[in-house]
Amino acid sequence: MNATQPTSRYSTLSIALHWLMLLLFIAVYACIELRELYPKGSDPREALKTWHFMLGLSVFVLVWLRLFARVTSATPSICLLYTSCTSF
Ligand code: HEM
Repeated sequence: MNATQPTSRYSTLSIALHWLMLLLFIAVYACIELRELYPKGSDPREALKTWHFMLGLSVFVLVWLRLFARVTSATPSICLLYTSCTSF
């Protein structure tokens, strides 16, 4: 399957990256919010901040991977996604 062939769904890689990034966003946000449970300077608080940084940076890396997957694999027509679309 190449980027110009018609398809009715996104590639498995794009779908997997989509859901993985959702989980990462939740984890990034949870880490930075949960740090408030611990006193300033404590080990768990610093660990949660470190996890926040690392997971946040992995989102940045995955954005590029996702853009690569987007341009190199076929994507469904917008009309296949929305049945009310009658033109095109
Ligand atoms: C998906 C990416 C990210 C999201 C959605 C996000 C979101 C947030 C949120 C909601 C806060 C809390 C702000 C507050 O309560 O005052 C925060 C704090 C912070 N974030 Fe991120 N962040 C992301 C990635 C990163 C990355 C990659 C870094 C650094 C490498 C980073 C560094 C920080 C720092 C230094 C703080 C303040 C922590 C503290 O000392 O209390 N964030 N971020």
